Amino acid sequence: MEKKTFYITTPIYYPSDKLHIGHSYCTVATDALARYKRMQGFDVMFLTGTDEHGQKIEQKAQAAGVTPKQYVDNIVSGIHDLWKLMNISHDRFIRTTDDYHEEAVQKIFKELYDRGDIYKGSYKGKYCTPCESFWTESQLVDGCCPDCGRPVVDAEEEAYFFKLSKYADRLLKLFTENPEFLTPDSRRNEMIAFINQGLEDLCVSRTSFSWGVPVTFDPKHVVYVLVDALSNYLTALGYQNDRYNEVDKYWPADIHIVGKEIIRFHTIIWPAMLMALDMPLPKRVYGHGWLVMGGDKMSKSKGNVVDPVVLCERYGVDSLRYFLLREFPFGSDGNFTNELLISRINSDLANDLGNLVSRSVSMIEKYFGGKLPVDRVHDALDDELIAMASALKEKCDTAMDNLAPQTALIEIMKVIARCNKYIDETAPWVLAKDEANTARLATVMYNLLETLRICAVLLAPFMPSTTEKIAAQIGLDLTKFGYETCGTFGMLPADTAVAKGEALFPRIDMKKELEYLEEQKQKAIAETKAEAKAEANAGERAEEKEEGAGLITIDDFAKVVLTPCKIKACEPVKKSDKLLKLQLDDGTETGRQVVSGIAKYYTPDQLIGKTVLVVANLTPVKLRGELSEGMILAAENKKGEVQVLFLEDSIEAGSHVS
Ligand code: MSP
Repeated sequence: MEKKTFYITTPIYYPSDKLHIGHSYCTVATDALARYKRMQGFDVMFLTGTDEHGQKIEQKAQAAGVTPKQYVDNIVSGIHDLWKLMNISHDRFIRTTDDYHEEAVQKIFKELYDRGDIYKGSYKGKYCTPCESFWTESQLVDGCCPDCGRPVVDAEEEAYFFKLSKYADRLLKLFTENPEFLTPDSRRNEMIAFINQGLEDLCVSRTSFSWGVPVTFDPKHVVYVLVDALSNYLTALGYQNDRYNEVDKYWPADIHIVGKEIIRFHTIIWPAMLMALDMPLPKRVYGHGWLVMGGDKMSKSKGNVVDPVVLCERYGVDSLRYFLLREFPFGSDGNFTNELLISRINSDLANDLGNLVSRSVSMIEKYFGGKLPVDRVHDALDDELIAMASALKEKCDTAMDNLAPQTALIEIMKVIARCNKYIDETAPWVLAKDEANTARLATVMYNLLETLRICAVLLAPFMPSTTEKIAAQIGLDLTKFGYETCGTFGMLPADTAVAKGEALFPRIDMKKELEYLEEQKQKAIAETKAEAKAEANAGERAEEKEEGAGLITIDDFAKVVLTPCKIKACEPVKKSDKLLKLQLDDGTETGRQVVSGIAKYYTPDQLIGKTVLVVANLTPVKLRGELSEGMILAAENKKGEVQVLFLEDSIEAGSHVS
């Protein structure tokens, strides 16, 4: 029989910087859900990836002195390493710079345009540069961006719009008739309120930068990064491309897992896009909470970013995975602290789970030489433990269906704690004193191992390597007595043999460890500062090098084409206080446009009609979305003020300079 499919996704991450613990949180939770479904026998497609276009990345790359692609390649390679380290079991990794994705996005945009759902207009509004989002006046919070709280600027530009407003009624219906679509419930109410405020059409193209997917039929526009990014969930399956052929198999997605701040994108914009494309909608979207530090958002500049690699290396991948999923309810924000991390590892993993495995195995080695005899004597003391262990699978299934990994782990840990209590109640060391109790002692030991088996199997999606380590110690063959058999107590062979291994979770000295982590934090802050300084110095050194580069030959000079040009028109570049856009008569019929960073020193009136000297054979570039074909020569005085080299009016535009 064909397996039932399950398509689950994480958001695709911005490779603008190294990922931090917040990103790991989202990915680890999605991984646990994917692994759980796989364990249940589903044919799972688990997709993750990176969202690589946009102005922010373009600017970061510029600051680093590399191309945007070089910049993202470097970060994405680190992301692959991180997911490998954290044992993330994704089936596919999509990059929005993958050719197949870019081509598919172009087709999607064109299709929406052909269907009349995208139209050309002009945008006047408030723009948040860091978020690359336009906002209406009414959406601003205290005059600032409602997402990041930073100031917005007035902006106007020719742009393409998606008819989002057209889908308001269908979206409302989606939320009201299908409450499962978005959970937790509180998030749904927020979205309904948002739609009821009135949906405006969405600006879906940009001309102010070029690091994006060009609109095929109007290439000075690039596709809005969000439309590009959201499309990944379909293109990764082969939608509008030949790279894959699994749209029919896996679409609609069973669940998109997303952070709370991008719910609106996933439950309003994305469904509307799909409606416009006549595609089925994802079945569910889950908006999880954020990990914060002392109530504050993590940010490099605040020095409160937690690096998952450091924690994995120090405490082990499974300890970190466990902590993230056990400590915080998935739907709410969680306050990350080092104390919480260490005390959770010590109490649940070292004291309860690790200790139980080691005690049980040691006792079986001590009392039975490592192999259990097969005779059994039951006692009423066993009943509660057996009942709890037998019911655990169903409880975990329900919790995971409800996207509550924390609840599943709490249930598993309750059973572990019950085992430890069972040891105290049955006092095996007393039973061991009398040979007449051998069968009873073996029963107690068997019950412990069998309960451990059930717990170990159900822990696999959360702590995959720990499950294997426990299995090796308690003589469990996971291929025979895995998930399918873990609702039934008594599956482990009666004469099972154990093999003691290393302590699973060594206890951590809280005081020492907190000191160590604080030291690391201070080091990281110092490194961040040093990096910023080094970047600034590198810029200065590059300038010095250029200045002192020494002599050139006449051949070198002959490569430079200097052309006198007359300034015909001039205006400021939108959204820039430094740049002017100049239309020049360079002696040719068409003339040329040059963008120059002289807005602080000249008004357009002071320039129009003047003749200037232009380096005319520079490779054209786009500055703030405006084409610049050359550079106007200027001098800089000691105060750093710029003075354009004006030529005599009598010098003709286009004349030869040598
Ligand atoms: N690129 C977009 C998503 C496009 S999906 C079509 C994006 N990227 S992101 O890198 O900024 O964030 C990716 C995910 O990480 C989001 O779901 C976000 O909520 C999550 N997290 C980022 N910081 C986080 C915490 N501190 N805590 C928990 N998750 C957080 O948004």
